[in-house]
Amino acid sequence: MTVDYHLGEPLPIQVNQDTIHLSLGQFSTCSIALKGATVYSYTQNTIERLFTSSLSSLSTSDPTPIRGGVPLCWPIFGPPNKDNELYNKLKQHGFARSSTWQFVKEESECQGENGCHAVFKLEPTPSITSLFPLPFSLKYLVSLSPSGLSLSLTVSSPSSAIAPLPFQALLHSYFRLPDSINPTLVKVTPLENLRYTDKILGGAEETERRKEVMVDGPGGEVDRVYLRASDRLKLSWGEEGAGGGGVEMKKKNLCDVVLWNPGPEKGKGMKDLEEGGAARFVCLEPGQTSQWVSLEPGEEWTGSIDLSFT
Ligand code: BG6
Repeated sequence: MTVDYHLGEPLPIQVNQDTIHLSLGQFSTCSIALKGATVYSYTQNTIERLFTSSLSSLSTSDPTPIRGGVPLCWPIFGPPNKDNELYNKLKQHGFARSSTWQFVKEESECQGENGCHAVFKLEPTPSITSLFPLPFSLKYLVSLSPSGLSLSLTVSSPSSAIAPLPFQALLHSYFRLPDSINPTLVKVTPLENLRYTDKILGGAEETERRKEVMVDGPGGEVDRVYLRASDRLKLSWGEEGAGGGGVEMKKKNLCDVVLWNPGPEKGKGMKDLEEGGAARFVCLEPGQTSQWVSLEPGEEWTGSIDLSFT
């Protein structure tokens, strides 16, 4: 790991017991919990751009997934299919988000103010194997650059495997809204003409007709999986240049995108969500959900996102 910093500045890579912190001087910072390799904070010019509930525990000794940041859903998205023997012991969204990942110090690096990256790995442990018998290796690359944050998940099936490795994968990104903006003021583009499944309506399939999708479902709740979404998506609020802002997402190899917010009522019932928390974020979650990836022994797959914030 190259260490390049000036006295008085935060260390470019700081390793704590349960968390890793990256920084590009005062310009941007990113914090990752070893639990789930969950990126739970990203700041630009000291402004936090991800939402993490203050009721979440970052400790690896508490296996509850972190409510916020970017939890990794793997090897399934949503609840397991009870008829499928390989997956039916898993919890909703799989085990990657609650497992303790290894920080790979030798592969993590900072190059001054130009960029910094940290690498994390997850391989089967006895407790994972008791729930999910297939061999796998996950590698997660978190990169901080002057233009934003990039997250890249690589799944490998070892060449010694004797069966294919089928999975879904999703980067469950919680984007923080400014105090003056609530989810109903947020627009997502371009989703027009996409097919989507509406999880609030029991998975009914519909076609999106709006040019700009507002996050304003019944009772404030929105839970939709947009199929085969564009690889460039935008979440925005307000007028550009007049207090407005947003997030631009470029995704690769993640065909769908989920738009989710529980709304105030359901939010109240979520015990790990801080009071009023549902009003502070919108989740835009790129993932491979409608189409499973299947790796033959020796193959690998990478899905990634580049995020830039205005
Ligand atoms: C979204 C799902 O991805 O995650 C929602 O589409 C779900 O249905 C939400 O409620 C949160 O899931 P969890 O398991 O973190 O409470």
